[in-house]
Amino acid sequence: MKKYLIGNWKSNKTAEEVELFFKILNDNLIKNKKNFPENIEAVICPAFIHLDLAGKLIQKYNLPLKLGVQDVSPFSAGSYTGEIYAAQIKEYAQYCLIGHSERRKYFKEEDNLLKLKVNEAIKSGLTVIYCVPDVQTTIPQGVDLVAFEPVFAIGTGIPDTPENAGKTISEIKSKNSVPFVIYGGSVTAENIGLFLKQKSIDGVLPGKASLDADHYYRMLTNAAL
Ligand code: PGA
Repeated sequence: MKKYLIGNWKSNKTAEEVELFFKILNDNLIKNKKNFPENIEAVICPAFIHLDLAGKLIQKYNLPLKLGVQDVSPFSAGSYTGEIYAAQIKEYAQYCLIGHSERRKYFKEEDNLLKLKVNEAIKSGLTVIYCVPDVQTTIPQGVDLVAFEPVFAIGTGIPDTPENAGKTISEIKSKNSVPFVIYGGSVTAENIGLFLKQKSIDGVLPGKASLDADHYYRMLTNAAL
């Protein structure tokens, strides 16, 4: 069974920086004569505006990377200024983060709205990565992939311990019928192996550590079990 390595770029990178990321990642692979680890399903979630460019660069360098997005409209096509709906996303990406703690905190997204987003994403065939900060948070029906992200660990450089994260993830799995749960919150190249070693943890969701191509490359290498 593959483990997930899902890089969340959040609201970062210009087009030039996106180009540079894939070039440096590819240079690293060539220089070190390394292939992508076969035990890893690697996904990058850039800003919407860079999906097309990222897809072209992945093709150009022939990288086995998948694309994801960081949000989705709760509606289908229509008069919803500023929104991007699921079927549009499906033309470029396979995965869709929903309910990230930054969406909950800064954009006041709550369970009812998130449920609509999940329904739209699933209807269009996207794989939802539903983010929850704890065991109590409700997970909408139909979600197969959950990211457990304790708020104290996001962007702080202070991750949960792999043992604790593993335990909480087991609890999430036993409380909900969700087959896959990954961990997010200050994951780095240094600690990635420890999280992936936990039996209940099906992968990781690094934010900051996925922005730098050299660091991302080291995460990939250290994720190879
Ligand atoms: P971080 O972010 O790795 O920078 O802590 C994780 C996330 O918010 O998904």
